[in-house]
Amino acid sequence: MNESFSKLKFAYAFALFILLGVVGAVLSLIVEDYIILVSVLGILYIILLIILLNVFHKYIKPVQVASKTMGELLKGNYRARVHHPFNGSIGDLSRKINELARNLSELSINEQMQADQLKTVIDNTESGLVLIDEKGYIHLVNRKFLSMFGGRQRDYVGYLYYDVMHQTEIHRTVQETFLYEENVKKSITLEKDRRQIYIEVVGAPIFTDRKLLKGAVLAFYDITDFKNVEVMRKDFVANVSHELKTPITSITGFAETLLDEGLSNPDINRQFTEIIYNESKRLKVLINDLLTLSKLEKEGFALSYSDTYLLQIVNEVLPAFKQKIAEKDIVVETYIEDSIHLKADREKLKQILINLLANAINYTPEQGKIKIQAIENETDVHVMISDTGIGIPPDVTHRIFERFFRVDKARSRDTGGTGLGLAIVKHITELHGGKVFVESKLNKGSTFTVMLPKNLDK
Ligand SMILES: Nc1ncnc2c1ncn2[C@@H]1O[C@H](COP(=O)(O)OP(=O)(O)OP(=O)(O)O)[C@@H](O)[C@H]1O
Ligand SMILES: [Mg+2]
Repeated sequence: MNESFSKLKFAYAFALFILLGVVGAVLSLIVEDYIILVSVLGILYIILLIILLNVFHKYIKPVQVASKTMGELLKGNYRARVHHPFNGSIGDLSRKINELARNLSELSINEQMQADQLKTVIDNTESGLVLIDEKGYIHLVNRKFLSMFGGRQRDYVGYLYYDVMHQTEIHRTVQETFLYEENVKKSITLEKDRRQIYIEVVGAPIFTDRKLLKGAVLAFYDITDFKNVEVMRKDFVANVSHELKTPITSITGFAETLLDEGLSNPDINRQFTEIIYNESKRLKVLINDLLTLSKLEKEGFALSYSDTYLLQIVNEVLPAFKQKIAEKDIVVETYIEDSIHLKADREKLKQILINLLANAINYTPEQGKIKIQAIENETDVHVMISDTGIGIPPDVTHRIFERFFRVDKARSRDTGGTGLGLAIVKHITELHGGKVFVESKLNKGSTFTVMLPKNLDK
């Protein structure tokens, strides 16, 4: 800037010099004294130079400074300001330019803030987002999308969607969104860490103010959890129907036979009636277990906590098994200090013990041994029920608490099992804020441990 100023000054000084040369030449025709002529010209030159410099500093330089500042503003440098203290209308212009610069700077900060906020929202939203223009080029992908599909921003942005997204369902979503100019919904599955992930894709068209199609937003929702719940629900319904079907078929079959031919034969009569009775008992147990589970699962289900002495509960439960224990000649040992107590739902805690003891007795051969122990620390009580029974194969141990899961369906059904006992145990334990797990060795025995928080402040 200073360089251009000095060039300009030099040009003005040179022009003045030429002008004075011309004036001198004219004057030399009038004034004869050479000294007077040079003095007049010298003084004239100095006066004109002073006037010119004054004009330059007052009018030309401020305009140049203002124009330079405007140039910076146009380039987007909103921090540029006119720093020279000018007066008059030029000063006014400078102040207005500075004010304009301040406003622009504020606007740009606000715009930046809004852009940052929008970016934060887009990046932290729980669904994947992709912005595609009307030609099919990707302009934006967010973090969730990258976590679903892998890759980095630069692997997508600037590319045609069908070159970088390979699922045909996604292509169809985009095409139909553009074609019908309305929201389109499809679903796709992805394989991630050897797990199936279900994703719902929604394409939504974007329009200009004049209702012209400008592009589309694709939103990707991870619906794996919903899908799994749906699958579980379907499985559950199928399992329940199957479990109900077996005793009902049996009851209907035997009742039909009885009606057709058995009524005259007292032996068959009794035998079949017994079968019908046993099967209906099974049905009752199954329905009771299902009701228990559905009650436990009901939203708003509340446990009724009371101070509960563990040994007392065990002693209340054991007599119910007395006959079975005696029949199988099983030894039951209890190691529980009578001081161990916790806040729990008494009836539900009983249910846990009943289910675990019933299993221990059912799945332990004659002359086996069952131990009921409890230990406590400051916050929890651990109840362990171990047996010397048939044990659980290691490959299915993790499934043992699933509804209707039975290692040996036929055998468990013989003992009247529905496969819901441990699911109920797990549910009740978790409602108390506790955990249940099993350690087992095939043909050696199993230990079920229920960890319950004492909840003494409840
Ligand atoms: N102590 C145990 N020893 C060996 N296997 C066991 C033991 N406890 C449970 N199991 C296995 O786990 C399965 C599931 O147990 P669960 O108590 O849920 O159902 P169940 O005993 O078959 O029927 P019920 O619903 O009447 O209790 C059983 O069928 C059995 O195969
Ligand atoms: Mg059981």
